[in-house]
Amino acid sequence: NPTPQLSAAARAEIDRWVAKYPADRKSSAVMAALSVVQEENGGWISREYMDAIAAYLEMPPIAVYEVATFYSMYELEPVGRHKICLCTNISCMLCGSESLQSHLEQRLGIRMGETTPDGRFTLKEVECLGACAHAPVAQLGHDYHEKLTPERLDEILDGLE
Ligand code: FES
Repeated sequence: NPTPQLSAAARAEIDRWVAKYPADRKSSAVMAALSVVQEENGGWISREYMDAIAAYLEMPPIAVYEVATFYSMYELEPVGRHKICLCTNISCMLCGSESLQSHLEQRLGIRMGETTPDGRFTLKEVECLGACAHAPVAQLGHDYHEKLTPERLDEILDGLE
């Protein structure tokens, strides 16, 4: 596949990050660049886009892949329109994340890490979201949903297109 071009908007946003670092450290903007590209392209980053980021930030492609695979917030495969990130760390587990997980798996007919065949939902297990005091917690898009119950989850999912 030919390397896709970063959009003008993406380049402008990445440039704003690049400007925060010394001129010889453009690569410091790699995480911001990955986020920008992911947001702009349906919630995931193809290999070709990682190559485009590498070229743009003048860094080796392998260094971009390493960052993208290390952090769980980057998706390297297509995801559903709604990504449900359920925290299953200790505080959330003690407050019922397991029953949330089985509820979600049953309702959506998929397991953790999978996407519904209609492309609407991806279910993902994540590490502590830093909101343990309000466990159990899930993140949908940019929103955190706290003190979740299966009933509350149903309300939230019912409200999505
Ligand atoms: Fe779930 Fe911290 S353990 S938010």
